[in-house]
Amino acid sequence: MAYLPSNITLGIFLVLIFFFTNHIILGFGASSTDSAGFLECLTVELQSSNSATSHLIYTPNNSSYATLIQVENQRPAATFPEKPLLIFTPFYEHEIRSAIHCSKKLGVEIRLRSGGHDYEGLSSASQVPFMVVDLRNLRTVTIAADEKTAWVQVGATLGQFYHTLAQKSRTLAFTAGVCPTVGVGGHFSGGGYSMMSRKHGLAADNIVDARVMNADGRILNRRSMGEDLFWAIRGGGGTSFGVVLAFKVNLVTVPETVTVFNVTRTSEQNATQLLHRWQYIADKIDDNLSTRIFMKSVTSPTTGKRTIAASFTTLYLGGVQDLLPLMKEQFPELGLVEKDCTEMSWIESVLFFARLHNKPLDILLDTTPPTRQFYKGKSDFVQEPIPVDGLQGIWRFMHEEDELNMELQFSPYGGKMNSFSESETPFPHRSGNIFMIEYGLYWYLPGKEEAEKHLNWMRRFYAYMATYASKSPRQAYTNYRDLDLGMTSLHSGNNNSTSYEQARVWGVKYFANNFDRLVRVKTMVDPTNFFRNEQSIPPYVASAYSS
Ligand SMILES: Cc1cc2nc3c(=O)[nH]c(=O)nc-3n(C[C@H](O)[C@H](O)[C@H](O)COP(=O)(O)OP(=O)(O)OC[C@H]3O[C@@H](n4cnc5c(N)ncnc54)[C@H](O)[C@@H]3O)c2cc1C
Ligand SMILES: *[C@@H]1O[C@H](CO)[C@@H](O)[C@H](O)[C@H]1NC(C)=O
Ligand SMILES: *[C@@H]1O[C@H](CO)[C@@H](O)[C@H](O)[C@H]1NC(C)=O
Ligand SMILES: *[C@@H]1O[C@H](CO)[C@@H](O)[C@H](O)[C@H]1NC(C)=O
Ligand SMILES: *[C@@H]1O[C@H](CO)[C@@H](O)[C@H](O)[C@H]1NC(C)=O
Ligand SMILES: *[C@@H]1O[C@H](CO)[C@@H](O)[C@H](O)[C@H]1NC(C)=O
Ligand SMILES: *[C@@H]1O[C@H](CO)[C@@H](O)[C@H](O)[C@H]1NC(C)=O
Ligand SMILES: *[C@@H]1O[C@H](CO)[C@@H](O)[C@H](O)[C@H]1NC(C)=O
Repeated sequence: MAYLPSNITLGIFLVLIFFFTNHIILGFGASSTDSAGFLECLTVELQSSNSATSHLIYTPNNSSYATLIQVENQRPAATFPEKPLLIFTPFYEHEIRSAIHCSKKLGVEIRLRSGGHDYEGLSSASQVPFMVVDLRNLRTVTIAADEKTAWVQVGATLGQFYHTLAQKSRTLAFTAGVCPTVGVGGHFSGGGYSMMSRKHGLAADNIVDARVMNADGRILNRRSMGEDLFWAIRGGGGTSFGVVLAFKVNLVTVPETVTVFNVTRTSEQNATQLLHRWQYIADKIDDNLSTRIFMKSVTSPTTGKRTIAASFTTLYLGGVQDLLPLMKEQFPELGLVEKDCTEMSWIESVLFFARLHNKPLDILLDTTPPTRQFYKGKSDFVQEPIPVDGLQGIWRFMHEEDELNMELQFSPYGGKMNSFSESETPFPHRSGNIFMIEYGLYWYLPGKEEAEKHLNWMRRFYAYMATYASKSPRQAYTNYRDLDLGMTSLHSGNNNSTSYEQARVWGVKYFANNFDRLVRVKTMVDPTNFFRNEQSIPPYVASAYSS
């Protein structure tokens, strides 16, 4: 582990210590922290609040448990030692209160899961004994078309939400992510970048009210939770502040016809020069246009050698007759022609970007996550264009034989993203950013050594990128959670100061100066740190803060 910065090594070391300490403590006759004990507690609690329980609870004895613990990314479950003692799938908000009571009574941690797409699997795997509150059955979407708002329960997927919108109107839409199986709960509370963010901002920027259950089991709305907590859940990430039950959002209006294209250029077709040039227009061009770039190392059909295929995947909020002159003026080098473009409705563009073009609309209701493989993601923000030799260095990494399943994404910022100050929401990555990078690495073989090989490669690549990424601190997107940035021990004993200092390491990367306000909100709403995971906001005491 010599390549790791010492603070990360220390973080891992501390986490291991707490992990073992915890097991020793549990070893002394804590029989209530098994599945049966928790099942009994939850059954009694639910019955006393008149809920029919049997269909809500899955222990390892139930046959569906095995499918319910599967999430999109297999890596975390393979790395973390604990499987959930049970999975609880409430249909009503008040039923969640029973899980909170039992969790406190038996000292078993709770993990909240909406869509299960956490990059580090923290909604479904843990280092300590835990149970999962899976919110998939809380998925009602209520649209008020006249006032252009919607209440969306957190267990809805983005696909379900978009599908419901499309049933109502061709021109009402929402600005959130492209993968239809991502859950509203985690996605909106961590930001939610969209193909329309340059025009309409993040999902979190459009939240106008929310329902949250706090650690005492009370249900709060915007008025009763107050503006501090309401601020924190709009970009501060899921987990730390309470169970978000539903969000009320402002919908956005889109034209009846939008235009899409997905033009791919290889290195032989000037991909490098095009990417270089794109960086000078990506954040400045008309807000109606968003070109996201996806890059992979592939075998060239003409030369048989490795080449970079860069796909310029674009949404234009308007017709092709307006798009073509705009591209000709701003980005003629791409050589876009009319036959590259397709006009369609906004909902058809949702299918297009999800790589489900021409599939029936109902496919958006499918909640099965994509193929199960081992996955590691990271992120960066870029504020100065990467020079050509820098891009060529990127290609050298991507052509390495063992890592051909790497996909790089450049997502443009600017436009509406710049209209928010850094502190308006916890999401601080606003003006000054040209684009965001997502590093996505897949592999298919199980095993610890195999995983280490890929993770080490990823860390080397990330180290190379430091020259081109934002600095002091190097920023990251909280919805692309990355435990390499640092962890906070789950049981930091009696030392709040240690816990705060550990969390600050990753906290300022995700939240910049907003981190301290998030800690203040956390201290106010959840001082006992009931809602937590390996990378949640810790509460603090005054002495920790004054140093
Ligand atoms: C295939 C794929 C595509 C993606 N595409 C995009 C994209 O286009 N744009 C983008 O911005 N991001 C994207 N993401 C990242 C995504 O936004 C985050 O992974 C997001 O946190 C997932 O939310 P979830 O509810 O599905 O995940 P979960 O794993 O259920 O939750 C994520 C975190 O939030 C907590 N949480 C979940 N629900 C609640 C709740 N109700 N109350 C409090 N805490 C809660 C969980 O405990 C967990 O820590 C993508 C991810 C994947 C895997
Ligand atoms: C699961 O089944 C085993 C064997 O029948 C039993 O001993 C155990 O208590 C059961 N666990 C739960 C949580 O019901
Ligand atoms: C899971 O098994 C328990 C008994 O162990 C049973 O009470 C419960 O109804 C089962 N849950 C489901 C969803 O079938
Ligand atoms: C690549 O760019 C050069 C000039 O920069 C140009 O002459 C050439 O035609 C371009 N090639 C392709 C395939 O677009
Ligand atoms: C975007 O499109 C709208 C509607 O077609 C138009 O009014 C506007 O001028 C365009 N440009 C920008 C920068 O919004
Ligand atoms: C864009 O084209 C690339 C290369 O053919 C393909 O892999 C990718 O799936 C396409 N993306 C979309 C959104 O169609
Ligand atoms: C840690 O912080 C919590 C909440 O602020 C406080 O209740 C607790 O006493 C603190 N513990 C120590 C040892 O300072
Ligand atoms: C708490 O942590 C600080 C620095 O992280 C350390 O100096 C101090 O000794 C610790 N206190 C206790 C009681 O462990």
